[in-house]
Amino acid sequence: MSGPNTDYDPVEVTPLKAEEVEAARDAALAAITAAADLAELKQVRIDHTGDRSPLALANREIGALPPQARKEAGQRIGQARGAVAKELGERQTVLEAEHEERMLVEETVDVTLPTDRVPAGARHPLTTGAELIADIFVAMGWEVAEGPVIEAEWLNFDALNLGPDHPARTMQDTFWTDPGTDHLVLRTHTSPVQARTMLSRTPPIYVVCPGRVFRTDEYDATHSPVFHQVEGLAIDEGITMAHLKGTLDHFATQMFGDGITTRFRPSYFPFTEPSAEVDLVCFVCRGVGEHDGAPCRTCRGEGWIEWGGCGVVNPRVLAACGVDAERYTGFAFGMGIDRTLMFRHGIEDLRELFEGDVRFTTAFGTEL
Ligand code: PHE
Repeated sequence: MSGPNTDYDPVEVTPLKAEEVEAARDAALAAITAAADLAELKQVRIDHTGDRSPLALANREIGALPPQARKEAGQRIGQARGAVAKELGERQTVLEAEHEERMLVEETVDVTLPTDRVPAGARHPLTTGAELIADIFVAMGWEVAEGPVIEAEWLNFDALNLGPDHPARTMQDTFWTDPGTDHLVLRTHTSPVQARTMLSRTPPIYVVCPGRVFRTDEYDATHSPVFHQVEGLAIDEGITMAHLKGTLDHFATQMFGDGITTRFRPSYFPFTEPSAEVDLVCFVCRGVGEHDGAPCRTCRGEGWIEWGGCGVVNPRVLAACGVDAERYTGFAFGMGIDRTLMFRHGIEDLRELFEGDVRFTTAFGTEL
């Protein structure tokens, strides 16, 4: 047995009821008004006028109505669809205009702005650092002296009381251009510029000599076969170790700030007598040895950092360089510029200074 005939009765199809058509129209109009941008409006168009929208479905039913009902239903649905289409069109125009307006504001290009297609480089921190050091001494009335990087063995060693048997003359530290035949070396320190200055000028002499030096070291975070030193030399009547100490303290505070002074530890250099190693008050823990409750990493808890070597110029050097050792005395010192810059800027790897990365140079190199 089959059940009662519940077949489709077109007259009873809900979307065709007047209030349903009105509700569908009102929902569409409300959604159109609420659409805030073109993307939202596109979705509203699909939902309310697309194939599966209530008004489209209702429209499809018209043909199935009895003829007497068709006209009225057709008009009602036609008006509703017409109203929705009109509203959609108007909202589209408004939103398009808004969109265009916003694009004009947001995408404004100021063609008068300067371009940076060729970004300016920066001076290398070693260049600016060496200049800064030179300036500190020039401000005290000193002069800047320079010498060649390929140096006579005699000036690099003998003139400085580094006799032929001195360990620093062995192949371990020194790059020789042609061992034993041409007597030239890549200078192992800036001290030959001392000898050159004394040989070519008469005292009083006050010179600083920044420059590149060479030793057969491994290339790692704290060593490099090429590095930089600054040498200082003062020759005058009555110069003592006290002048040396005062000068280096001034140099240190100018370089690292107030309160950063130096201490001397006894040492040996053939070209100075007495000689000392110069330490610097650690500028991170300021000599305390502790920082943030832990042993200071910069000075390894010592409170001091090794900075360079110094001393009173050995009279044998004065004599070798033609200075009257009875009348004049002098002091000399030598510091690593690379080390000094590493302290000053908190650079942890020496190689950063040599690898030419422009991001490093721009960060550390431009100092005014
Ligand atoms: N020339 C020494 C070095 O390279 C440093 C120094 C310079 C020491 C002047 C004393 C005086 O280690």
